[in-house]
Amino acid sequence: MSLLDIAPVVPVVVIDDAETAVPLARALVAGGLPVIEVTLRTAPALEAVRRIAAEVPEAVIGTGTVRTADDVRASAQAGAKFLVSPGSTAALVDAMQDSGLPFLAGVATASEVMTLAERGLTEMKFFPAEAAGGLPYLKSLAGPLPDVRFCPTGGIRLATAPDYLALPNVGCVGGTWLTPADALATGDYARVEKLAAEAAALRPQV
Ligand code: 3PG
Repeated sequence: MSLLDIAPVVPVVVIDDAETAVPLARALVAGGLPVIEVTLRTAPALEAVRRIAAEVPEAVIGTGTVRTADDVRASAQAGAKFLVSPGSTAALVDAMQDSGLPFLAGVATASEVMTLAERGLTEMKFFPAEAAGGLPYLKSLAGPLPDVRFCPTGGIRLATAPDYLALPNVGCVGGTWLTPADALATGDYARVEKLAAEAAALRPQV
């Protein structure tokens, strides 16, 4: 099954303390969002991925902010099941393809989409979604590039997600709104589960 079709929303998570990783992942899964992207922006990120991979088997855990071939290797070693990048250099996309893991490389222009499509890729991350043109931009891409589907991320919230999900070339959306820093700092996983449940309800399970 495509990464884009498992859940309507992919929580983009910034982990400041590896101790929060497992309860956080359990709350997201319990709320109905099993696909979780841990960004490689903080020191504990890979440890968080290791713990979630080992202790929360129901989660589909991946890494985000993947920028280099080293990030790809480290992600795979930590147990990541997928990779997400903010952009798509040739060296990075080579490394992601070589890893054998599913991945969403970042694009923000028609030329970038076409460059990845030349490699046979048909699913990508559209980033930064709101700043790069948002809904009208994605609608415009669907005309000439109807065979490519996106996970837009960047500036999307619960209120704006439905309009993205209604587009034929959007499979899911990503965002950080599911895991507010203050909820993680105070251990308020009930709040995370509630935010996840609201997001999961945007596309009822079939
Ligand atoms: C990403 O890496 O995808 C973005 O930073 C998402 O962030 P936002 O949902 O807070 O805009």
